[in-house]
Amino acid sequence: MLVNVKQITTKAKKGNYAVGAFNAPNLEVVKAIIESAEKLKSPVIIDTSEKEIAYAGLEYISAIVLAAAKKVKIPVALNLDHGSSFEMVKKCIEAGYSSVHFDGSSKSLSENIKITKRIVDFAHKRGVSVEGEIGHIGGSSSLHTSKINVDEDSLADPEVVKEFFSKTRVDVIAVAVGSAHGMYKTVPMLDFDRIRKIESLVKVPLVLHGGSGIPDLQVKKAIKLGMIKINENTELRIAFSQALRKTLAKNRDEVVPYNILPASIDAVKKVVEEKIKLFGSRNKA
Ligand code: G3H
Ligand code: ZN
Repeated sequence: MLVNVKQITTKAKKGNYAVGAFNAPNLEVVKAIIESAEKLKSPVIIDTSEKEIAYAGLEYISAIVLAAAKKVKIPVALNLDHGSSFEMVKKCIEAGYSSVHFDGSSKSLSENIKITKRIVDFAHKRGVSVEGEIGHIGGSSSLHTSKINVDEDSLADPEVVKEFFSKTRVDVIAVAVGSAHGMYKTVPMLDFDRIRKIESLVKVPLVLHGGSGIPDLQVKKAIKLGMIKINENTELRIAFSQALRKTLAKNRDEVVPYNILPASIDAVKKVVEEKIKLFGSRNKA
């Protein structure tokens, strides 16, 4: 059943659990995410970044996710991840997305507020929920050989989050609190005082980006403090590609995609199922 991120996160906030937003670039990963969530009776969010959309094609990836959402009873949201412009948001909404994330974190605050507000007005009229962003979450969703690097100045200022929310009325807010996109040689250290302060000022579900590589104990604590949507990409990418390398190395003469790819689907499922259990959304569909 297709729903939007606001519907999923409002229920999750009341129930004190978080819901995974898993990135999908293709049919195999969509299948893995949906089948895992269905098995564990969990609501789920499928995120597609602009690069993932460019790879798959907006019509193809939206059709795949919308067909999957129609087929299952669990709540499924299709969300644009880190949208960079009003035009991209509009295209996704016209393609049937139930939710959008506008990432104006590299713009000035007034520009971020202006564009986000325009998106909220456009999206809400169409039943689409909106995620805004304050602070900048750096890195990229890949495996890095360097140590994690989070600049203190890039973190979300609680007072700015409050101002941003009151001026835009977004449905959920991504806040930079110490994580980074990708997996590194060292693990992130979330700024729990900052999360606590933001949550005390703004009564809106918060979004934790850069979920890959954050130790489970920190994730659990962040959920208790108000992180309701948790974005995961790199751990799925690693699972998919490592399984693919293994399959191809073991079966050098195999050429049939439907014999090669199931191991990658299973590897992604394993990660998604672990995250659903960690986030506490099992049996919440
Ligand atoms: O928007 C996507 C996420 O924030 C994913 O981050 O690759 O570190 O899991 P990640
Ligand atoms: Zn992100």
